[in-house]
Amino acid sequence: MISDLWYKNAVIYCLSVETFMDSNGDGVGDFEGLSRRLDYLAGLGVNAIWLMPFQPSPGKDDGYDVTDYYDVDPRYGTLGDFVDFTHGCKQRGIRVLIDLVVNHTSDQHPWFQSARSDPNSPYRDWYIWSKTKPAGADKGMIFPGVQETTWTRDDKAGEYYFHRFFKFQPDLNTSNPHVQAEILKIMGFWIQLGVSGFRMDAVPFVIAEKGADIKKPKEQFGMLRTFREFLQWRQGDSIILGEANILPEDNLKYFGDDGDRIPMMFNFQVNQTLFYALASGDTEPMIEALEKTRDKPHTAQWGMFLRNHDELDLGRLDEEKREMVFQAFGPEEHMQLYHRGIRRRLAPMLGGDQRRLELAYSLMFSLPGTPVIRYGDEIGMGDDLELPERNSCRTPMQWSDEPQGGFTKSDKPVLPVISKGPFGYEHINVAEQRRDPTSLLNWMERLIRMRKEAPEIGWGDYAVLETGTPGVLAMRYDWRNNSVLIVHNLKPEPVEVHLDVGCGEHGKLLIDIADSESSEADGQGRHRLLLEAHAYRWFRVGGLDYLLRRTEL
Ligand code: NOJ
Repeated sequence: MISDLWYKNAVIYCLSVETFMDSNGDGVGDFEGLSRRLDYLAGLGVNAIWLMPFQPSPGKDDGYDVTDYYDVDPRYGTLGDFVDFTHGCKQRGIRVLIDLVVNHTSDQHPWFQSARSDPNSPYRDWYIWSKTKPAGADKGMIFPGVQETTWTRDDKAGEYYFHRFFKFQPDLNTSNPHVQAEILKIMGFWIQLGVSGFRMDAVPFVIAEKGADIKKPKEQFGMLRTFREFLQWRQGDSIILGEANILPEDNLKYFGDDGDRIPMMFNFQVNQTLFYALASGDTEPMIEALEKTRDKPHTAQWGMFLRNHDELDLGRLDEEKREMVFQAFGPEEHMQLYHRGIRRRLAPMLGGDQRRLELAYSLMFSLPGTPVIRYGDEIGMGDDLELPERNSCRTPMQWSDEPQGGFTKSDKPVLPVISKGPFGYEHINVAEQRRDPTSLLNWMERLIRMRKEAPEIGWGDYAVLETGTPGVLAMRYDWRNNSVLIVHNLKPEPVEVHLDVGCGEHGKLLIDIADSESSEADGQGRHRLLLEAHAYRWFRVGGLDYLLRRTEL
């Protein structure tokens, strides 16, 4: 059955074990603590977790610098604790995707240590070397302003090594068959320990040709097919969720024309234009981005998101649009990063205004794909701009108004808990919001329920309907003889919209899923909708008997 493809209609929750819950009072989150919070996640309604890197690491890039792919960093627990965690998830029907960081290792990884120490090391060719500094070494940095070069000389090796990211992250020579075999082994290991797949870090760089002489690196797309086949031979329902900020013309090369490469990718095109829409009220560029990313194999899916653990990367917007988003959401220099992004969490960007936060989440959840939310965003957590770079939005989860937000018993949390001010744990925390039926947390729980009960969005086709009103987006999804209509007003003022929903007779009746209001079309078959500023409405088309009408095909 096609509906076995669980990732087509899931809600994914991204978290870092380090900052979620500390069970042993050392100030660092751990798997035992995370396991104790699984009932919270089950209650929220998410059905998959994307877990950020937790393997042994010097922690210079929040764990994206791994020294052992087959273990858990002792600060977070043991492999036993990890298996307890995946078991706890399984019991609750929650799947686990873990980060797979195989474009590079840490420079402390024994493979790199061996490679640099001896030209005859079996690991020498696991990395990319050059006797001289290649031309163009000072171009193509991923972290401009912080990272100086992509080739650094290693005195012990007597050669330069390539690193697409920071210099402590030497790139693996992913064209080397031994490295490729090792990547499969790593995937096989974690699959055996209960995960349902991987969020693959830096996919375009993993599959790129690398080397001092390579001017225009070609992608080796066949590798993606090998990864997917291997995974699905081992465990049929496991997936790769790719981090690939690519151009739309390359989408099918990553998904594979027949869905034979990676099944899921984050939709960066839509993410950036969505923020532009929120900043300007102009939905056209987002509609264009949706159109450009519409074409995909039926087994493929987009991961839709607002914010993640990195900066909000606006690098693909033109200068004018980027400037507009900067002005709206990160006007001061210390809010910006790498000359292209904003290092704030969503809630402070939107002035902590619950109405606008709801609009942003409702919009993201209603786009064609699977929503991915980030821990703490369900309560509107803030950021700490005193922390360097992307750490600003990686502070510990705020559970209660107890010391350290209930994250730890230690008074030295791994990163400071946000305290004082409007986003401090004293005000923004789970316990407080649980008691308040109007809180963002309780609203988010209802949104997740509403989204899961609208599989038309994950599975169906969509049409953007003509609203005749700039700033109002109306999308209709159709699947198995059922339709939903979702309308958003991105403008800060109320509007009246006249809509022809289509769908023949059924289109004459709209039932609001979240509210008691419904709408009947006028004599010309048009609905007149009054939308408040920043309003959102989710409708069932044709009445609440939709499940009685749903067809098998
Ligand atoms: C992408 C990750 O999202 C980011 O946090 C990390 O720094 C780089 N890849 C390098 O692994």
